[in-house]
Amino acid sequence: MEKKQLDWANIGFNYIQTEQRYVSNYKDGAWDKGGLTTEANVVINECAGVLQYSQSCFEGLKAHTQVNGDIVMFRPDVNAQRMVDSAKRLEIPPFPPERFLEAVDAVVKANAEYVPPYGSGASLYIRPYIFGSNPVIGVKPADEFQFRVFVTPVGPYFKGGAKPITIKISDFDRAAPRGTGNVKAGLNYAMSLHAVVAAHDEGFAENLYLDCATRTKVEETGGANIIFITKDGKLVTPKSESILPSITKRSIFYVAENILGIEIEERDVYLSEVKDFAECGLCGTAAVICPVGKIYDHGTDICFPAGMEKMGEVTQKLYDTLTGIQMGTIGAPEGWIRKVC
Ligand code: PLP
Ligand code: COI
Repeated sequence: MEKKQLDWANIGFNYIQTEQRYVSNYKDGAWDKGGLTTEANVVINECAGVLQYSQSCFEGLKAHTQVNGDIVMFRPDVNAQRMVDSAKRLEIPPFPPERFLEAVDAVVKANAEYVPPYGSGASLYIRPYIFGSNPVIGVKPADEFQFRVFVTPVGPYFKGGAKPITIKISDFDRAAPRGTGNVKAGLNYAMSLHAVVAAHDEGFAENLYLDCATRTKVEETGGANIIFITKDGKLVTPKSESILPSITKRSIFYVAENILGIEIEERDVYLSEVKDFAECGLCGTAAVICPVGKIYDHGTDICFPAGMEKMGEVTQKLYDTLTGIQMGTIGAPEGWIRKVC
């Protein structure tokens, strides 16, 4: 199979339309058989649940070309389960996990020429999503839904690749206690758009949100969880009911504890203690592990000793091990890698 002639090193994190996507419709209480289609446009009624009341959830995962040429996905079963959790919270009928796996397999395989080559620094981003598709005007769930999966080749989420970024403490809140911050609902991202446009206009790469009940604790950014490294080499990360349970972070926990011998503390992290950490990074499927060199907090710069030029030493070890597992240069824990072709 010939790869597409794309400028893999410079594609950035943008939508590039590929050939095939998967569609399944839910009607009369059941998901239909579903299948691949070349039709990239969606036609729905003007009053569809997703258009009026944002009834939608999504997932994000990646396929890579490994060192031996295999095209693989990283832990898609965990994304399938998280989508079930998101769907339940949003009154969306869950898409069965085994069918989720079949769908992502089929779309990646059908678009194999778009999976970036090994060593290019790019990957194939997979976006499964479900939305309410029939008309609803009273505030209530739709009763017809569409599940779709498309893929797009992507480069680094943040400009500059693995260079440290500067983020700011946001004056906006992301997710309320007992709200929807812990599920992957489109509405969480809609409400972050104004805040992220403002942060970009001010020259920051992302917003770091605080817990909205007390505004004293660090939560996460608009599209990634946050991790810190203490001066004595421990990994510290916020424990909160209102942040997304990142699959990357859960994988980093395993790598830290079982491969690198790094101790983990998942706990309340107060903004007032952030200045004492040695390193900071954002983690997620899109972000992978992106180093944070500086956090701007209302006129004060919190600068991490690791600096603005390169990743901190411990962050780099976590990054190298995680990406080594994804790329097949380091043995993966059982069940983490699903071969597509
Ligand atoms: N937090 C938010 C708000 C996200 O959008 C994402 C991305 O999916 C993450 C965290 C990281 O989650 P994961 O590692 O499962 O991609
Ligand atoms: C992901 O990492 O998959 C996300 O959904 C985050 C988003 C900011 C692209």
